Amino acid sequence: MTKALREPLLTSESSETLDPQDWDDIRAQGHRMLDDMIDYVANIRERPVWQPIPDDVRERFRGKLPHQPSDLGKVYREFTDFIVPYTTGNVHPGFMGWVHGGGTAVGMLAEMLAAGLNANLGGRDHIPIDVERQIVEWTRQMFDFPSGASGIFVTGTSMANLMAVLVARTSALGRFVRQRGVGDDGARLTAYTSAAAHGCIARAMDIAGLGSDALRCIEFDRSHRIDVAALRARIAQDRKAGRKPFLVVGSAGTVDIGAIDDLRALSALCREEQLWFHVDGAYGALGILSPGLAPRLAGIESADSIALDFHKWGQVPYDAGFLLVRNGEQHREAFVAPASYLRRETRGLAAGSPWPCDLGPDLSRGFRALKTWFTLKTYGVEKLGAVIARTCALALYLEARILAEPRLELLAPVQLNIVCFRYRAADANKVNGDIVIDIQESGIAAPSTTMLDGQLAIRAAIVNHRTDTCDLDALLAAVIRFGTARTGIDPAFRTLPNGRKRRKLLPTA
Ligand SMILES: Cc1ncc(COP(=O)(O)O)c(C=O)c1O
Repeated sequence: MTKALREPLLTSESSETLDPQDWDDIRAQGHRMLDDMIDYVANIRERPVWQPIPDDVRERFRGKLPHQPSDLGKVYREFTDFIVPYTTGNVHPGFMGWVHGGGTAVGMLAEMLAAGLNANLGGRDHIPIDVERQIVEWTRQMFDFPSGASGIFVTGTSMANLMAVLVARTSALGRFVRQRGVGDDGARLTAYTSAAAHGCIARAMDIAGLGSDALRCIEFDRSHRIDVAALRARIAQDRKAGRKPFLVVGSAGTVDIGAIDDLRALSALCREEQLWFHVDGAYGALGILSPGLAPRLAGIESADSIALDFHKWGQVPYDAGFLLVRNGEQHREAFVAPASYLRRETRGLAAGSPWPCDLGPDLSRGFRALKTWFTLKTYGVEKLGAVIARTCALALYLEARILAEPRLELLAPVQLNIVCFRYRAADANKVNGDIVIDIQESGIAAPSTTMLDGQLAIRAAIVNHRTDTCDLDALLAAVIRFGTARTGIDPAFRTLPNGRKRRKLLPTA
C-alpha cells in the first residue's frame, strides 16, 4: 500500500478511541451502577422472584443493529428498566428451581475487577494464570488428589464432563486417536453411569463422537444410587460381546433428588476393571467442604477426574465450572496442540508453559478464577462448608413440614438439599405442573419440576445461601393455596353427608 493511500485512514487517536472524553462522567456513572447493584442484592427480597416478561419488553430486544452511539446513561436506564426486573431470579432466596447458585456481592465485585483487567487466560506469563493455578492447587487439596493433578476452569459441568470423556477416551485408545479418529476401536468404547445421572453425560458421549448408545444407564436403588452389582454384570456382559468398557461416571449429587453413588465401591470396581473413574460432582462435590457431608463422598479422592461447579454450592457468580484430573499428563495429552503462533519460551511473556489452552478446547478464556479466588479467600472454606450444610438442614426442615401436612406428599427421600413432593390431587401430574407455574408467576418462589416414577414432583433445590425457613414456609403456603384453588377442594377435608367437613385424605393418583 502506498503512503498516499494509507494517510487518509489515520484519524486523530482521541476521536476514534472508545475511552470516554471525560473520565469523571464515567466514574460517576460507574458509582451509580455499583450502588444500584449493591442495593439490588441487599434488597432482593423486596422483588418478585421471577415475573413473566411483557410482550413490549421482549420486543425491545428485537431492535435494529445500533449504528450510532447512545448516551451511556440512557443505555443503563434500559438495563435497569427492562433487564433487571426480568432475570431468572436465582439471586433471590425464594429461587429453588433446577440447581442455581445465588452468587454474592463479593463475587459481583470480583467480576467487575476481572473485566477491568480484561485478562486472557488462554496462556502466556501473567499473574492471573497463577491465580487460576492457585485454585487448581486448592481444589486438588480439597479432594486429596496427588501433586501431579491438573485442573481448569470451564463454563460449567456439562463442559467439564465432556472434557473428562475426551481425556478418558484418549487414555483408553492412546494419543493417536486425536489424529486418526476413533476408528473401529472407538466404535466399541463403552461407558457406564446410573439411569439417574444428568443428561449431559449422554450428550458428552454424543458430542465426543462415541455415540450416546455407547453409554449404559444402569439401574439405581430406592435412594437413586447406582446398583453396583448390576454395573459389574453389565461390564462383564459387554466385554463378552466384544465391547471395550473404558469409563464409569459416578454421581455426587444426582440432579433429581441429590443421591450420592457409592463412590468407594465404584472406585474399587474401576481399579479392578481398569476403567477411568469420573465423578460428576456438579453441585455435590463441594459438599467436601462440610465436615458433616464429606464422609458421604468417600471414594471421590480416588477418582481419575471430577467435574464440579463453583457457581452452584460454591456461590461464585456464573460461570465457574471446573475439571480436576488426577494425572495432569493424561489431561494435557488429550488437548495439547502446538502451533507456531503459540510458541513457548523460557523467558518473556510467552513463558510459563504449560498454558491453560493445553488443557481444554478454549484458547481465549476469561478470568473466572478471580471471582472464585475472592470467594474462597473472603469467606474461607469453613464458612462455605457451613453454608452448604445449612442448605441440607433447610431441606430437612422442608421435609418435616411436608410430612406433617396431610395435603402434601413427599416423593423421594431427602438426602442432600433437594426436596421432591406434590400436592395430593386426583389428576396430580397436571395439577402439580400447574401449581409450579402458578407459583413462579406469582413471584413468591421459583421451584421447578421433575418426573419420579411417572409422578410429577414439585422440586425444591436449596442452593442459595440466602434461603431461610421463611422462604420454605412461603413455598408451602403457596403450594397449598394454588393447589386448593386448582382443584376446588382441599384434599385434607371431605364433606360429610351432614354437610360438615372431616379431615380425610383423598387417594393419590
Ligand atoms: C448432577 C449435574 N450434572 C451436571 C450438571 C450440568 O451442569 P452445568 O449446568 O453447570 O453445565 C448439573 C446441573 O444442574 C447437575 O446437577
